[in-house]
Amino acid sequence: PTEKILHHSTTELYNKKRIKFRGTQRRLPQTVIVGVRKCGTRALLEMLALHSYVVKKSEEMHFFDDDDIYENGLEWYRKKMPYSFDNQVTIEKTPSYFISREAPARIKEMNESVRLLVIVREPTTRVISDYAQILDSKKLRGKPYIPFEKRVLNEVGEINENYIAIKISQYFVHMVRWLRVFSLEQILVVDGEQLVRDPFPELKKVEKFLKLPSRFTPWNFYFNETKGFYCFRNENRQKCLPPSKGRKHPEIDPQLVSKLRRYFAPFNDHFYELIGQNFSWLTS
Ligand SMILES: *[C@@H]1O[C@H](CO)[C@@H](O)[C@H](O)[C@H]1NC(C)=O
Ligand SMILES: *[C@@H]1O[C@H](CO)[C@@H](O)[C@H](O)[C@H]1NC(C)=O
Ligand SMILES: *[C@@H]1O[C@H](CO)[C@@H](O)[C@H](O)[C@H]1NC(C)=O
Repeated sequence: PTEKILHHSTTELYNKKRIKFRGTQRRLPQTVIVGVRKCGTRALLEMLALHSYVVKKSEEMHFFDDDDIYENGLEWYRKKMPYSFDNQVTIEKTPSYFISREAPARIKEMNESVRLLVIVREPTTRVISDYAQILDSKKLRGKPYIPFEKRVLNEVGEINENYIAIKISQYFVHMVRWLRVFSLEQILVVDGEQLVRDPFPELKKVEKFLKLPSRFTPWNFYFNETKGFYCFRNENRQKCLPPSKGRKHPEIDPQLVSKLRRYFAPFNDHFYELIGQNFSWLTS
């Protein structure tokens, strides 16, 4: 076993160099991070990959939510996965799986006992963060952009439910679809705000849920004063998320923020009830 653990820490290195290490294979993911966009899916994947029993697929595959890519078949998908030992867990993440109609059944067809991770944050903050990312990329390309108010409200000043960022934040609506296909025991809902504030306890929950040997310690996470949030490390590497991940949000009229929170409140209550977990997100 000691030899194998030693090997574990090297799988990542070998995967980077695209070398097959003796005793490893490409395996279908046993765990998928299925969302939610702008809630910390990248941070979650990178932090999980500190664990010597976790092997990550860095690129978002869009295998289960894109019909054209799905047509390539499971064998194609498997061959895209990194090499791993038989007791390691391969993890893929694609945030848009969460809102896909097809993804739940397709993932179940791959492995009906798969374990799923969903990371969420307060829905209004998520909308603002979603908007901020699109805004940044439009500004960067010198493209015109619509002000936030015009995006989230319709002509009569009601919440614009056709805006995709609003739809994504209706967690309940999407979660219902996942729970028609999977049991709640197979899904862990991770608190994205908690993950940023204090990663260690949240990662311990995930470690337990994935039935991984206990490896995470507080040492893996350290606060970077310059950045104002956590960086992470293991014996082989240290990592801080790129600056875009801590992007400053635009100033939004507090009354509009309140209006959005009130709008999401009933969705949130249904969501808490559905998953048996209460996030107590602000309601105004
Ligand atoms: C299916 O997922 C479970 C839970 O992650 C895992 O233990 C099992 O090995 C997976 N089966 C296959 C065939 O990958
Ligand atoms: C802290 O963050 C700064 C700014 O991104 C970075 O340059 C520096 O390397 C980080 N320090 C550590 C110890 O991770
Ligand atoms: C969630 O907790 C708050 C108190 O923090 C409580 O007022 C609210 O009723 C709870 N909601 C649900 C759905 O349990």
